[in-house]
Amino acid sequence: MSRKADSVENTQEEVQKAPYLDQTLRPAGWEEYIGQQSIKENLRILLSAAKERNQPAEHILFYGPPGLGKTTLAHLIARELGGQMRQTSGPAIEKVGDLAAILTNLNPGDLLFIDEIHRLNKTIEEVLYPAMESGVLDIVIGKGPSARTIQLELPPFTLVAATTRIALLSAPLRSRFSGGTFRLDFYTEEEIKKILERSAKILGVETDHEGLRAIAKRSRFTPRTANYLLKRARDFAQMEKRPLSRDTVERALSLLEVDVLGLTPTDRKILETLIKKFGGGPIGLNTVAAAIAEEQATVADVHEPYLLQIGLIERTPRGRRATKAAYEHLKQQPPGLF
Ligand code: ADE
Repeated sequence: MSRKADSVENTQEEVQKAPYLDQTLRPAGWEEYIGQQSIKENLRILLSAAKERNQPAEHILFYGPPGLGKTTLAHLIARELGGQMRQTSGPAIEKVGDLAAILTNLNPGDLLFIDEIHRLNKTIEEVLYPAMESGVLDIVIGKGPSARTIQLELPPFTLVAATTRIALLSAPLRSRFSGGTFRLDFYTEEEIKKILERSAKILGVETDHEGLRAIAKRSRFTPRTANYLLKRARDFAQMEKRPLSRDTVERALSLLEVDVLGLTPTDRKILETLIKKFGGGPIGLNTVAAAIAEEQATVADVHEPYLLQIGLIERTPRGRRATKAAYEHLKQQPPGLF
């Protein structure tokens, strides 16, 4: 069924749904979740076995670049386990009391999702250990010689955590994800195209094979980016009152300064800095980040993984180096992006 979510004849109901499009595009069942085959198979066994034993599933850690579907997997696991998903993030848990409040408010069988777990502070991490291992919360009451510890028993729960920076996780924390640690990989172009076909149908966007392929090629093999570009190209097509053909997509994404490889102005600035200011490297990405006035974490999480994936930069013991392909790509870019 195709909904005319874009047309000016939108029903009131569709207009009201519009702000929640990201939620609308999120797969609601395993059959709708495309790709990451090996993770899905492992999770199927882990979850079925736990359900059969009538126990909560063991704690799971997902890592990988942003936008590949870590949160979506957590939602699907919660659904499978039949509990509620409670969502928080490392930086949002500022005090031990914040974590205590979250944990003691869980219902048996709930899933606690902690995003960006690498940003959890050390003291809180240590409170999390016994909660993960033995389902208890050790709380210190008072200070100095009169301080005492009380132990609260927690409802059985599953912790699913996600990080873009596995290397920043302490070894003790990593070792407590007894259900497994799974790395999400970039998707293939074919998988992205299937995701886009599904999204276009949900959004009621009229498109063709070539239009979707043009988006898939520029999607950085990342579903979140693919869906973002689809929506921007849809806006463009709508304003021009044209279908979402390859030509419309190329012009829409050119306006966004996304090039044929899906590189954004910041990606190109990174390459340009590496090549023009530092003779191609090798150089630490922190130096590049400083040179382009960008957050180091953003360069490391968002830009570097894709540039490495498509072979425009490479890792050496002394830092990152631009490859021949990076020189070629930059030469081909200005003045037009396509
Ligand atoms: N949206 C985000 N990730 C997805 C996936 N893996 N499959 C389908 N839709 C998605």
